[in-house]
Amino acid sequence: MIEYVPMQRQHIEGLVEVEKQCFNSGFAEKTFEKELENKIAAYTVAVENGKVLGYGGLWNMCGVADIMDVAVHSDYRRMGIAQRILEKLIEHCKNEKISEINLEVRTSNFAAQSLYKKMGFEVVGQRPNYYENRETAILMKKIITEES
Ligand SMILES: CC(C)(COP(=O)(O)OP(=O)(O)OC[C@H]1O[C@@H](n2cnc3c(N)ncnc32)[C@H](O)[C@@H]1OP(=O)(O)O)[C@@H](O)C(=O)NCCC(=O)NCCS
Repeated sequence: MIEYVPMQRQHIEGLVEVEKQCFNSGFAEKTFEKELENKIAAYTVAVENGKVLGYGGLWNMCGVADIMDVAVHSDYRRMGIAQRILEKLIEHCKNEKISEINLEVRTSNFAAQSLYKKMGFEVVGQRPNYYENRETAILMKKIITEES
């Protein structure tokens, strides 16, 4: 059974592995350790029999959340894991009285855009040259309501 739990130190090795596979952006062990101590950070980890399958995290910036990362191991995609991770993060936002969630996504990342649209995010703008390869970021937002 896949469980969706808050990030703990024991997950870090698995988180680094999934991060490397999905982004290879140098989000190393130390970064996750810092996030564990970061009072404004909240991460949900998908775990099956101790193996990390995916994760997602946000920062609560004074009542407005920013998604940091959502990533699922390539062997476990299209099983609804990212969707469940986002549902958990949205639940966290409701508990913390967070009013909206913002994120940036690459224009080329259709899978992530369609995931976020399914979860009720709307496109609110663009940021040209946002990424290291000058790719444009699409800005998306979800307003948190009791029903959402
Ligand atoms: C984007 C990502 C997190 C999706 O994870 P996932 O667990 O496979 O997604 P889910 O199974 O929960 O999919 C939920 C919905 O998202 C959309 N979706 C997910 N993957 C998709 C794909 N490859 N193509 C089109 N839509 C997709 C669909 O609407 C899907 O619903 P459906 O299966 O009923 O059609 C995963 O592909 C990933 O880790 N990619 C690399 C990292 C990344 O790009 N992260 C986002 C950074 S902004």
